[in-house]
Amino acid sequence: MGSDRTVRINAPAKINLVLRVLDRRPDGYHNLWSVMQTVRLEDELYVGLSARAGIRLQCDEAGVPTDGRNLIVRAAAAVLARAGRSESRPPGVEIHLIKRIPVSAGLGGGSSDAAATVIALNALLGLGWSRDMMVSVSAPLGSDVPFFLFAPSALVRDRGEAVTSLSVTGARWVVLVNPGFPIETRWAYEQLSAGRTSVRPLSDALRRIERDGSVAWEQVVAVMENDFDAVLVPTHDALGQIKRQLMAAGAEVALLSGSGATVFGVFRDEATALHAQAALGKTEGWRVFAVPASSVPLSCEAGGAPRPAPVG
Ligand code: C5P
Repeated sequence: MGSDRTVRINAPAKINLVLRVLDRRPDGYHNLWSVMQTVRLEDELYVGLSARAGIRLQCDEAGVPTDGRNLIVRAAAAVLARAGRSESRPPGVEIHLIKRIPVSAGLGGGSSDAAATVIALNALLGLGWSRDMMVSVSAPLGSDVPFFLFAPSALVRDRGEAVTSLSVTGARWVVLVNPGFPIETRWAYEQLSAGRTSVRPLSDALRRIERDGSVAWEQVVAVMENDFDAVLVPTHDALGQIKRQLMAAGAEVALLSGSGATVFGVFRDEATALHAQAALGKTEGWRVFAVPASSVPLSCEAGGAPRPAPVG
């Protein structure tokens, strides 16, 4: 990468174990109540400082923008601005992204990349920022970004920026199935809003999770729900098909992630998850991943050169 110093950091995908969409706010957004969890389907970032000024991003996958449309570039610019460093003077920033998380899929890949960039630059530039400081720098980039600073699991409220620690105890495997078409987030929210006259209050079980700040996987699988399910599953046949096939393959529960279009199933053990991956992977056009739920926060490690992305 031509950098003097480089760190490597993995940026995991997220799933929503619970996603309740509450009232519409005056700013047009909706208040949320969500339990979010990272899983070990990860993009890989190599972030380096360079003697050449500017922010440069390269990505192994064609079609991923590498200019200011990419949240990584905006995150790096936001860090340099807050740190009082000019983009037009060294140190420059060079980032190599190995993309594995499907894009626009309800998995938060771009937001995770942005949070990883902030963590990496905090370390490389020796800024010593607290998590709260990193949240305040990254929140304007997108509603999902602050969550990744609280990974592996957290409770997310309001527009997404009110994040509190939540531990999900125990372990599970997750099979993610992306049907190969995107669902536009704004459209999904509009459908949800238009199709209801009132907002169902939070259940006592969800309030208990909020109060305790901790929940076991056994308990959370019993109360998992996503408000987008009722809107999107009837209008997209593939989503219902995936849910049924995941349940038939032994999932404890199967649900949309975010506003889709990825559907995930939760499995007690690796063997059943791998079996489900093989079964659902037979359908052409579906991208299927079997991964454990993450148990650690995002963190960077020194050095290394980017490894080539695996084929497939
Ligand atoms: O956060 P993002 O830019 O992906 O949101 C896209 C659209 O989804 C917003 O413009 C808004 O219409 C809707 N949205 C919402 N409430 C949220 C998040 C998104 O209504 N909390």
